Amino acid sequence: MKILLTGAFGQLGRASSALLASRGHAVTAVDLPSFDIASADCVASALDAGRFDAILNAAAYTAVDRAEGAGRDDCWRANALGPKVLAEAAARRNVFLLHVSTDYVFPGDRPVPQPYVETDATGPKNEYGRAKLAGEEAIRASGARAAILRTAWLYSDVGRNFVKAILCRVRSSADHAAKVVADQFGSPTTAEDLAQQALRVLEARAEGLFHATSQGYGTWCDFARAFCEELGVEAGIAPCATSDFPTAASRPSNSILDNAALRAAGLDVFDDWREALSRFLARHGEALLAETAPEA
Ligand SMILES: NC(=O)c1ccc[n+]([C@@H]2O[C@H](COP(=O)([O-])OP(=O)(O)OC[C@H]3O[C@@H](n4cnc5c(N)ncnc54)[C@H](OP(=O)(O)O)[C@@H]3O)[C@@H](O)[C@H]2O)c1
Repeated sequence: MKILLTGAFGQLGRASSALLASRGHAVTAVDLPSFDIASADCVASALDAGRFDAILNAAAYTAVDRAEGAGRDDCWRANALGPKVLAEAAARRNVFLLHVSTDYVFPGDRPVPQPYVETDATGPKNEYGRAKLAGEEAIRASGARAAILRTAWLYSDVGRNFVKAILCRVRSSADHAAKVVADQFGSPTTAEDLAQQALRVLEARAEGLFHATSQGYGTWCDFARAFCEELGVEAGIAPCATSDFPTAASRPSNSILDNAALRAAGLDVFDDWREALSRFLARHGEALLAETAPEA
């Protein structure tokens, strides 16, 4: 397949670029500043020149707290207008679009561990979630052949992320302590697993809305304890409440998604988040330890 990969320098973009190429697909990888998914001219000329079979849209504005203030316009441009532009251009040329959305389209107020399925009513509680939901709606309205994968708690070895932040904190402080939120529940999901899932859906040309996270669930505190323990890093991870660390954007407390539609289509590739974490650390643990080593 000839695939246009947008947002190629982000977590999912980097994981997908390597994977798609290793499976023999011809990938054209693009990102800001030269390629803006919200620019209709930019998208049209790329699609006309490249004659792609599919677009994998890994581009997004993911600074959830900044989106409540100074980043609001950029958030809506990347997360609502961008998918609309891509979908309308894809529909006109009969190109398949795979787009990625988020657990933040849900309010997250149902009792844990009751998960959200694809048919549940949405109700975002922050600006990022509202923009991502508008992006989903624009894709459906475009008539494009499209799949939307809603994921959550994405992590990888690149960029800023929760794993590196916690490792830096516990390794650089004298008491190795960190307070981590223990009243938000979700399923940590590696960008590499999400890339595998995206590839599976692309190759099957499966259309529709799919929840796409690792199996099982935990809290941020469970996640932090799990990777510190597995890496043998001394860490006093103490549970705390969301209210102990007020943020600009409010977040769902239940982010657990059920991959019901992927399972029904026989396409679900995910395993338990703890197994996925072990695989991730086997591949990237040494590099993460080197990158987060305290300064001598
Ligand atoms: N990260 C999570 O925990 C999480 C959770 C749920 C869902 N998701 C969704 O999963 C997908 C992948 O997320 P990710 O964590 O891989 O994101 P990421 O690491 O933030 O990467 C997104 C990439 O898109 C680029 N981008 C931003 N605006 C763009 C625009 N207008 N045109 C073209 N490229 C643009 C970014 O460039 P700059 O860096 O220069 O802005 C960045 O390279 C997104 O759809 C996201 O909403 C993520």
